[in-house]
Amino acid sequence: MGYIPDEVAEEVLQKSDIVQVVSEYVLLKRSGKNYFGLCPFHQEDTPSFSVAPDKQIFYCFGCHAGGNVFKFLMLKEGLSYPEAVRRLAQKVGVYIPQIQGSYNIQEQKKKQRPYKIMAAAAEFFHQNLLGPEGLAARNYLQNRDVTGEIIKTFQIGYAPAGWDNLIKYLTSKGCKEKELERLGLIIKNRQGTSYYDRFRNRVILPIKDAAGRIVGFGGRTLDGSTPKYLNTPETSLFNKRHLLYGLHLSRAAIRDSGYAVVMEGYMDVVAAHRLGIKNVVASLGTALTREQVKLLMRYTDEIVIAYDADAAGVKAAIRGLDLIQQMGCRVKILQIPDGKDPDEYFRLNGVKEWNKLIKSAYNLIDYKLHVAVAERIPTTAAEKIRVLQQVLPNLAHIKDPVDKEESIKRVASVLNVSWETVTSEFKRYIAKQEKNVVKQGKIWVNTGKFVNNTHNTNLNTHLTDARQQAEYLLLGLILTDFNLFSIVKEQITIDHFQNKELKKIFSLLMQSNLPVNEPARLMQRLDDKGQQVLGRLLSEKIPAGNKLSALEDCIKIIKKQAGKRRQEELLHQLKEAEQLGDQKRVIELLQELQQLHHTINTDLP
Ligand code: GTP
Ligand code: MN
Repeated sequence: MGYIPDEVAEEVLQKSDIVQVVSEYVLLKRSGKNYFGLCPFHQEDTPSFSVAPDKQIFYCFGCHAGGNVFKFLMLKEGLSYPEAVRRLAQKVGVYIPQIQGSYNIQEQKKKQRPYKIMAAAAEFFHQNLLGPEGLAARNYLQNRDVTGEIIKTFQIGYAPAGWDNLIKYLTSKGCKEKELERLGLIIKNRQGTSYYDRFRNRVILPIKDAAGRIVGFGGRTLDGSTPKYLNTPETSLFNKRHLLYGLHLSRAAIRDSGYAVVMEGYMDVVAAHRLGIKNVVASLGTALTREQVKLLMRYTDEIVIAYDADAAGVKAAIRGLDLIQQMGCRVKILQIPDGKDPDEYFRLNGVKEWNKLIKSAYNLIDYKLHVAVAERIPTTAAEKIRVLQQVLPNLAHIKDPVDKEESIKRVASVLNVSWETVTSEFKRYIAKQEKNVVKQGKIWVNTGKFVNNTHNTNLNTHLTDARQQAEYLLLGLILTDFNLFSIVKEQITIDHFQNKELKKIFSLLMQSNLPVNEPARLMQRLDDKGQQVLGRLLSEKIPAGNKLSALEDCIKIIKKQAGKRRQEELLHQLKEAEQLGDQKRVIELLQELQQLHHTINTDLP
């Protein structure tokens, strides 16, 4: 992607408007001088996500995600920093040259080669389907209502019967057999003397990554031979965990509709598109992985699972669903009637019925209850508790108190236990969770691309001691009134700070060449955590009656606490010096201790 000079990034920053960018993803409402909306990084029902146009930053009071417009795009679109800068640069018309030496061009070509080969193979298959060889495959597809435009959209193809059609074609184009083997297109025979095509007499479904590059193939048998589907093996390009079939076609529709439907089969996705249902992907025959969820979370925070009704291993599926929810995504589960898969369902029912089905999808709690009860109605106390335990984590995820109340009632009713039993188990669970959070010191939950949706007061727990709170308040005061900074500068140095993030922010403020009054530019110099903390500092109301006296209190506390630490150090050194009999050093240390004594014992209000 290339390195982007700071000046260029800052130019982009100055030309863009964070409110406009965020508006493309979040419904913002003005309140005072700021805007508020539902946070796109965690699940919530009341808006705690704020955007400050004057400061050009965003901050969520719920999950503490915060930063400038670049950070917003990085989190929301799963972009790297240079990608976010480039994306925005294009919009606001800042030209960013591609810095590339000749070495890079070589390197780039080398990287692109496998993709080119895969594309050539796809085109070969596609042309075969459209040609005379492809008649039987075309008929097969026609029987499944897959024709014309849909064949083109998905670039569906046909691998002819015979052992070496693809090898011949690609080697004639200059490909080496070794590289075709590495891409999983051909296989070495048992004697190791020659190669043969992996895909033979199969309908070919090219599998693309989110960027639309072909990385693998799924080949369906025409004649019932096994396996039904033959896939590209894991290669440098094809990693099933990171791919979703159809994602490159569904991204816009997922964003627009607000949810993504995950199906099991390739043909389910193809069939959905035939009906104009485009917010669908398939998980390539595996349980949904963390990586796949992350991909989807670039575009939505709601996933509807539409697996075949006969889905093997429902329990494994449920574990996967909890994972989705933990990652901050809402989950719903669709039950397709009569044990049909989506493809079969579409054949019998139209879009309208499908939309009704989507509306009737279970939420996670109801689905778990449904599965538990379908298996065997829990009768003993132990059985009931076991089911109850399964849904407690999901109850904890419900933010709306009315929803929560309703769900608790439903749980109680399905399990035939009292409302009080569920409530008290739930409270016990929550208490245990909170204890765990404190014990593990889980402070910052913003990890990489998405924000965990555990609501917490992380900064509060983080800044438990008076000193760090004073550091926080001090910076908050400076940021609301820069005149105060000159007072602080005379008395406080970077070394006084204990909290890492606050220290970094203070040191930025100390660098006089930086625009202290342009928070969005300060953000540029901070990492994830730093941006969160600065976001919070700039967004929270700093409770101070008399700013000046509040500031002085902060300074006193910080100096006093720093003094105490220094005192401990000095006492330790004093002991050493005494043991060594170093009289001169002892006297020095005693003098310094005396001076310190004054600072430490200054009275505080
Ligand atoms: P058809 O409608 O019969 O074409 O298949 P389907 O899309 O309904 O597939 P099914 O529900 O049988 O399986 C779902 C998905 O699992 C498929 O789309 C494949 O991704 C994968 N799959 C199914 N059978 C096989 C197999 O034999 N081998 C491999 N590797 N994957 C399979
Ligand atoms: Mn099917």
